[in-house]
Amino acid sequence: MHSLSLASIALVSLASTAQGKAAGCDQKPSFAAGNFKDFTTSEGREYRVWLPASYDSSKATPLILSYHGANRVIDEQVALDKLSDPFFNKDHIVVYLQGLEASRPGHTVWEGAPDSTSDDIGFTADVLEAVSKEICVDEKRIYATGKSQGGGFVGRLACDAGLSKRIAAFAPVSGAYYIKEIDVKADCHPESVKVPCDAGRSNIPILAFHGGADATINYNGGFRSGACLPAISSWAKQWAARDHLDQTPANTTITGAQNGVKMSYGGGLVSLVYDGDNIGHAWPSTQPNSDNDGKDLAAFNASTSIMEFFRSHKLD
Ligand SMILES: *[C@@H]1O[C@H](CO)[C@@H](O)[C@H](O)[C@H]1NC(C)=O
Ligand SMILES: *[C@@H]1O[C@H](CO)[C@@H](O)[C@H](O)[C@H]1NC(C)=O
Repeated sequence: MHSLSLASIALVSLASTAQGKAAGCDQKPSFAAGNFKDFTTSEGREYRVWLPASYDSSKATPLILSYHGANRVIDEQVALDKLSDPFFNKDHIVVYLQGLEASRPGHTVWEGAPDSTSDDIGFTADVLEAVSKEICVDEKRIYATGKSQGGGFVGRLACDAGLSKRIAAFAPVSGAYYIKEIDVKADCHPESVKVPCDAGRSNIPILAFHGGADATINYNGGFRSGACLPAISSWAKQWAARDHLDQTPANTTITGAQNGVKMSYGGGLVSLVYDGDNIGHAWPSTQPNSDNDGKDLAAFNASTSIMEFFRSHKLD
């Protein structure tokens, strides 16, 4: 019984993938284009879907998953990434997921945080399945972005055997790439620590951002909350190695940023943006936001770069 139903599920998803169209195509969604709607999964997990004003249920539409930082909620991530602002995005669905609390009230985190026990890989898969039933999702153009520990979780998605094959490109911002396996400070060597990864395909597109003045998740890595954080440059280099790219990045200076530089491997398949010496634990923006408090504004908008990056990648 079980193997039979699993096989038919696999066939159904193969069929929809082959056409790049989801089961939700040619159906009227339960809410109007240009709006948000809150949902809860059968497991009680919360998420919010935004449909661009141009949404047309006869067209397979790309979708972005967005993950807030630790101790944050969906509202804050909506205000931070601005991906539902037509200035940045007019044509991608955005799905904001809500992390669960761990260890103390208000402390919302994702799988991979030192004190998290939740299954957010499963949650993400459930959300994709549910959204695809109601909305016409382009199954070849699903993307993930997130901030801080949410960015760390985006790194885990890219390293997940299953979801790395469903998500076309990954863009973490100020990512906290905790390695829980190393729980003793003396064993944490940020420059050389190997990031555990079980990616299900090669040529995975990665665009990561990090500030030089990040006092929360240091650019140089280190031991934090009982786990080891890799140096960000080493984390990016390991992605270049997994994608079989030349280990020396091509550097592009970021105009107006304090020593800001984009380090691109393989013509940009993997890129690390060093936001600048003065940029803290913030979503890079030329405008004030809740991360930068109006100080040390970035020379660029990360959301613009993220959209360009997503537009240039899709699954085969
Ligand atoms: C690229 O930029 C990084 C960060 O500033 C630097 O460490 C590296 O040496 C640069 N590489 C080249 C080839 O200039
Ligand atoms: C960054 O985004 C804001 C809108 O949030 C926009 O007004 C500004 O012009 C953008 N900056 C650049 C450099 O594109």
